[in-house]
Amino acid sequence: MIIAVDGPSGAGKSSVCREVAKRLHWSLLDTGAIYRCVALTAMEKGVDSDPAACGEIARTIDIRFVADKSGQRVFIGDRDVTKEIRTFETTQTVNRIAPMPEVRAQLLETQRRLGHATNSIVEGRDIGSVVFPKAELKIYYTASAKARALRRLKEFQAKGENFDLEEVVRQIQQRDETEFNREHSPLIQCEDAIVLDTSDLSFEESCQALAKLIQDKYAELNP
Ligand code: DC
Repeated sequence: MIIAVDGPSGAGKSSVCREVAKRLHWSLLDTGAIYRCVALTAMEKGVDSDPAACGEIARTIDIRFVADKSGQRVFIGDRDVTKEIRTFETTQTVNRIAPMPEVRAQLLETQRRLGHATNSIVEGRDIGSVVFPKAELKIYYTASAKARALRRLKEFQAKGENFDLEEVVRQIQQRDETEFNREHSPLIQCEDAIVLDTSDLSFEESCQALAKLIQDKYAELNP
């Protein structure tokens, strides 16, 4: 079974999916991490403004996810890039390279290959619409802009990075703007997706809500 979880940035989708995958013993594919690996490599090679070069990196990059006690580590070849792909700079770069059709086309097969474990939660922006349109369950995971900004602020603070709320709201709106309006694979709410609005839910409540949707679907398909 494939569970496609799409939604805008800053809603806590990744952490909730990670926790639920752990609890249910399902595989997790964080497709944002794949885009982030391409962005990091392009940045380091100084080619992040060149769509053809970014596409070539996406075609040849060797990405691996390795489970460990703390969750999942991300490797490019033998190099552990779990931390580097989450820096502010990489986030800025990935927001520019993710809309490139050269990159998206190359990463399509990579995502399908990595997501095809027995039972997988695959999270991203275009999973239900493009990558796995036949997913058994599609969830649109969201939260209000203010709730998302407050969550993002906490994450930044935990890393010792300080921004004010307005600045974070502006960043979220900018990312939304790019993700909803880009030409290729924009973020859309699929008609057959179940909306999970977590604005007023705690982390634990969000995990329970997502886990219940998955378990109910699993029971329905495996009576
Ligand atoms: O979920 P995230 O913040 O780690 O995603 C990083 C970037 O990749 C962000 O700009 C959205 C983009 N992305 C995408 O375009 N399609 C996906 N399936 C996953 C992420």
